[in-house]
Amino acid sequence: MKAAYIEQTGPPDVIRYGDLPKPEPAKGQVLVKVGAVAVNPVDTYIRNGANYWPLPKPFIIGCDVAGVVELVGAGVTRLKPGMRVWATNQGLMGRQGTFAEFCAIDECWLYETPEGVSDEEAAACSLTGVTAHLGLFRAAGLKSGESLMVNGGSGGVGSMVVQMAKAAGARVLATAGSDEKCAACQQLGAEVAVNYKTADVAQAVKSFAPQGVNVYWETTREPDFDRIVSFLGERGRIVLMAGREARPPFPVGPFYVKECSLHGVVMFKASAEEMRRSGDDMNRWFRAGKLKANISRVLPLSAAAEAHRLQEANTLQKAGTLAGKIVLKP
Ligand SMILES: NC(=O)c1ccc[n+]([C@@H]2O[C@H](COP(=O)([O-])OP(=O)(O)OC[C@H]3O[C@@H](n4cnc5c(N)ncnc54)[C@H](OP(=O)(O)O)[C@@H]3O)[C@@H](O)[C@H]2O)c1
Repeated sequence: MKAAYIEQTGPPDVIRYGDLPKPEPAKGQVLVKVGAVAVNPVDTYIRNGANYWPLPKPFIIGCDVAGVVELVGAGVTRLKPGMRVWATNQGLMGRQGTFAEFCAIDECWLYETPEGVSDEEAAACSLTGVTAHLGLFRAAGLKSGESLMVNGGSGGVGSMVVQMAKAAGARVLATAGSDEKCAACQQLGAEVAVNYKTADVAQAVKSFAPQGVNVYWETTREPDFDRIVSFLGERGRIVLMAGREARPPFPVGPFYVKECSLHGVVMFKASAEEMRRSGDDMNRWFRAGKLKANISRVLPLSAAAEAHRLQEANTLQKAGTLAGKIVLKP
């Protein structure tokens, strides 16, 4: 089968596109014929040598996938050949990735794709959607009627946060780096969208939630806690998911006096059971038309190296040239 893989870590040029043996589903595994995969920033960190865990050799890159069940291994009961499925959390914790014509995936990570949702859409929402769900509901306990601010509402995770918060009955303020991206946030359900490059964000937050927001979601890697804590209301919750190297100052007094709390989220540390709850809610929202993919580019799988360059330019160099996910098709 064709696959995008690496034999050593390094810059995007280390990605090879070529033939690897088609995997066989082991006990408890499902062989998926891949329809679409999506790129996430973590794919680029791993390819670049982040060394979070030992990688299989060769290592097929990628975490997200959607496609059709081709074959099932012994002991698989829930899924049958021909069923449409999606998954995330592959290519992580030593597992093989998804950027190939076929992947063998443990049944526990697979969710049925609802009718009317394409493979491109399902793949584009998978890692970002599960992350947003875990952060909003398991970590921050967002409730209907609460207010939420997401700093970076047009990106991969940000666009999921906007839609899920809205679906759960919260009011949403999102920031984005252009007027077009602000308009996109409003289309996804943000009540207010603020261009962080040109507008007074603090003033907008004050008008949106005069008592401060209940939940603040940071998508950037450099949180400014003085600013964030000033935006929070009493018992406000902050969700962090990025910035391993960040060591910013922290306003201890203002934070604890308002009885705020801080929640870190790492998608791949969630159990299969926790992720299934995210997958079930996402499927419910897909069916209800409340969750839509935010796709910026669709490329052939053979362009995996180009896709990594584009993701890296945006995540690390903040090129601002992406307004959503990069999806690839074998
Ligand atoms: N912990 C986890 O489980 C987990 C899961 C997924 C992702 N992540 C991490 O989370 C980060 C975001 O991931 P992603 O997939 O959403 O990336 P992404 O699609 O590249 O989105 C990045 C977002 O950051 C925004 N942004 C950049 N500079 C900003 C600024 N100065 N002020 C406000 N917003 C700004 C961008 O907005 P504009 O384009 O509008 O400028 C964009 O919405 C990455 O570092 C990734 O590694 C962690």
